[in-house]
Amino acid sequence: MSQASRPALLVTRKLPDPVEQRLEADFDTTLNLDDHPRSADEIIAASQGKQAILCTVGDPFSAQLINRLPDSIRILATFSAGYNHIDVGAAQARGMAVTNTPDVLTDATADIAMLLMLGAARRASEGERLVRRRAWTGWSPTHMMGTHLGGKRLAIVGLGRIGEAVARRAQAFGMEVHYANRSGRRSPTLPNAVLHPDLDSLLPVADVLSLHAPSTPDTRLWLNRERIQRLPVGAIVVNTARGDLVDDEALIEALRSGQVAAAGLDVFDGEPAMNPGYLALENTFLLPHLGSATRETRVAMGMRAADNLDAFFFGQPPRDLLPPTGV
Ligand code: DGY
Repeated sequence: MSQASRPALLVTRKLPDPVEQRLEADFDTTLNLDDHPRSADEIIAASQGKQAILCTVGDPFSAQLINRLPDSIRILATFSAGYNHIDVGAAQARGMAVTNTPDVLTDATADIAMLLMLGAARRASEGERLVRRRAWTGWSPTHMMGTHLGGKRLAIVGLGRIGEAVARRAQAFGMEVHYANRSGRRSPTLPNAVLHPDLDSLLPVADVLSLHAPSTPDTRLWLNRERIQRLPVGAIVVNTARGDLVDDEALIEALRSGQVAAAGLDVFDGEPAMNPGYLALENTFLLPHLGSATRETRVAMGMRAADNLDAFFFGQPPRDLLPPTGV
C-alpha cells in the first residue's frame, strides 16, 4: 500500500515494540505510547477519520460505544482470543468486521493453568507469604501439606485448543483427564481421556476443575452454588478463561468451608476489581490475567491482529474474521 493510501488505525493500548513498528509501517497509526486506558469518549474522539481500531480485552466495546463510532470505522481487530468485551452483533449490524487472535496464546495460557493448579494444590501463595513475613520456623513433617496432582482426576470445562493443551500437560503430571464436548465425539488428540455425556456429569469426578469455556450468556455464572456442591469435597478450582463463569460468592463460601480446598484464578468478574473475599483467603492463588503474558505470545498476538488488518484492507477475508452473529 502506498503511504498516501494507508488506512488510518487507532490502537487503544501500548503494544510490544515489534508490533507497533509493523503497524506504523502498514497503517497511518495512532498509538497509545503511555498506555493510559482510554475512556469511551476518548475512543470516540480519537477514532474520528480512522478506518480501523485495534483494541484489547481491557476495552469494553459495548453496543452503546459501537453505535457512537464514526461511519468511517470498518473493522475492529481485537488483540485477544476472547471477544466478550465486544458486542459483536452491534458491530456487525453497523457493517464492521470483527477479528480476534486465537491459536497463538494456547501454550502460554495452558502453562498458566498448570501454574495455577500447582500453586493452588501446593499452597504456593500461602508459603510465599509465610517466607516473606519471616514467619517460617523451619521444616516439619506435617507443615503446609498440600495435594498431589498425580493420580487425581482433572475435569476440563471447554475442550477447545487451550483445554486440550492443558489436558496434555496434566497427563504428563500423571493426572486422569475427563472432558465433555458438544459433538459427543471423542477428541482424537486425547485418546486416553474420559469422555462424558455433558458438562454436569464432570462435576462429581472433578478433583481439579479447570475452566476454559468462553464467556457467553450460557456460560455466565456456570460454576454456581449448586454445581460447586456436586464437586468432590476438597476439589481444586482453576480459572484461566473469564471471571464471569464463576459465582464468586458461592466459590468464596466453598473455599471458606473447605468444600473447595483451593482455587487458582487468573481472571475475575469485573477485573481489575475483584470480590475482596478472595484476597482474605489463604487458599487462593491469584494472578492478574497473565495467561498470555509472555513476550513471545504478546508479539505473536499483535502480529496476528496486524495480519487480519492487512488482509482486510487488501480485500482478502481475514483469517480470524468472526462469523455473523445474526443479531
Ligand atoms: C484473551 O486473549 O482472550 C486472553 O484472555 C488475553 O490474555
